[in-house]
Amino acid sequence: MHIKDEIDFKELLKNPIRLFGLSYIYFLLAGGFLGTYYIWNMNDVSKNAITPVVLKDSAQFVLDVPMQRGALIAPVNVAIAGRSSKALIDKGANLYKANCASCHGDNGMGDGLSAAALTVKPRNFHSAEGWKNGRKVSNIYKTLQDGILLSGMPAFNYTPAEDRFAIIHFIRTFATDFPVDSLSELLDLERVYNLSKGTQLPAQIPVKMALQKVTQENDAEINAVDQFCESMDEAIKNDAGAKIAMKVSRNENKIATAALAAQGRSLDDFVRIISSDPVTIGFKPEVVRLSSEEWNALYSYLSKVNRKS
Ligand code: HEC
Repeated sequence: MHIKDEIDFKELLKNPIRLFGLSYIYFLLAGGFLGTYYIWNMNDVSKNAITPVVLKDSAQFVLDVPMQRGALIAPVNVAIAGRSSKALIDKGANLYKANCASCHGDNGMGDGLSAAALTVKPRNFHSAEGWKNGRKVSNIYKTLQDGILLSGMPAFNYTPAEDRFAIIHFIRTFATDFPVDSLSELLDLERVYNLSKGTQLPAQIPVKMALQKVTQENDAEINAVDQFCESMDEAIKNDAGAKIAMKVSRNENKIATAALAAQGRSLDDFVRIISSDPVTIGFKPEVVRLSSEEWNALYSYLSKVNRKS
């Protein structure tokens, strides 16, 4: 009961600011508690509220660029090709069968044979539902240009522009309510893709294949150099050039590699290249003192390093 003795409640009510002195300790504790709680859960607090997109299977990643022939895409007049015609529809029907039916189905229902394997189902052209880019000619042109990333709808940017318009007009026969483009929407295609100029598409090969090719060429070079060096001991018995090579060489591997790189050059070039920096190329410095007959012999011997041997 000491506390009661010490606190004079009447005094307190007269001067309520003193109440703060009593509640202060609770605020302090609450603050301390919240702070500790916050720091304790820092990991969760800093996590994104929005879950990042996780791709379901690795096939959805673009692993490499595809192999493609270079192609000239013929110029086209958008104002004409962008409007449906019987000729374009007929042409489109065939192209559709060859390029699209496997996924979108013979009748455009989105039920082609390959559709079963796709997580995102191909569009049913009879229905207006679910279109991501839209159903106008200009919208579908964009779909064919870029494909739809990660969903299995490939890009058809190698298909000539006129063929693409033909296919588009054909798939738009599957329903009667396809929206029609204004002329300016069609002309936008011209503006974006320069269709009246045609397009030169560069050839490309997959990175993986390019790497293999480089390694193969490298391997061929390494083999040639190895073989050449191995044959040197044998060659010095009856080839004057080999004897000279042995005498002026610091590193047979290097000189064979250099000789391979210099192949097809004239004797003069050969002499100049070696004399400019003999040590780096694998020769002893005294190589520059060879007589012209000796250079000749060395040149003809080193010309025998051959990728195919
Ligand atoms: C390998 C299967 C496959 C092939 C081949 C294919 N598509 Fe598709 N297509 C799809 C898939 C899957 C979708 C649905 C994409 C989505 O919803 O993200 C789709 C969607 C579309 C759409 C709707 C775009 C939008 O705005 O939502 C159009 C138009 C289309 N394809 C046209 C074509 C045409 C024309 C061809 C042939 C030149 C073709 N597709 C070939 C799989 C394919």
